[in-house]
Amino acid sequence: MTKPLSAETIAIVKSTAPALQQHGVAITSRMYERLFVDPEIKKLFDMAAQESGEQPKRLAGAILAFSKNVDNLGALTQAVERMTTRHVETGVKPEHYPAVAAALLPAIKDVLGDAVNDQVLEAWGEAYWFLADILIGVEKAKYEAVAA
Ligand code: HEM
Repeated sequence: MTKPLSAETIAIVKSTAPALQQHGVAITSRMYERLFVDPEIKKLFDMAAQESGEQPKRLAGAILAFSKNVDNLGALTQAVERMTTRHVETGVKPEHYPAVAAALLPAIKDVLGDAVNDQVLEAWGEAYWFLADILIGVEKAKYEAVAA
């Protein structure tokens, strides 16, 4: 069972929503640059959706929605459904999640620079794993349903 986020982490994540609104696509584009250094991970993605800018936009939208609703996850049910369906279609596995964390958190720093301090990055690290654990759990059930 995922440990609930602290009130402080929730407050920090929510406070970053305006910055994400403004710079979300820059952050996710930078994240993919970092992520695609690994050819095994790059293979999972449809490069047309990358080059058209669609995928960075979708991911930025998901992260923004998450930052706004981190204390109201019921609002994300449909989004979680879509993401996990797409992840299962493309073969995303739990072992891929650390690479996305390792690309996303530095990308936030790359783009927002001095506007984020260690405390903000730590809060986002916790929030990332909170969401990742939810996605991983739903994806596990979907893989099992496909296998059955
Ligand atoms: C908390 C972490 C993550 C979030 C919030 C997230 C979010 C999303 C979203 C919003 C989409 C688009 C769904 C749609 O079609 O509407 C997507 C698709 C996708 N995600 Fe994730 N994702 C996460 C982790 C990962 C990981 C760890 C991987 C594997 C490296 C991954 C690989 C993919 C792939 C391959 C697609 C399909 C893209 C395509 O169509 O080319 N994601 N994800």
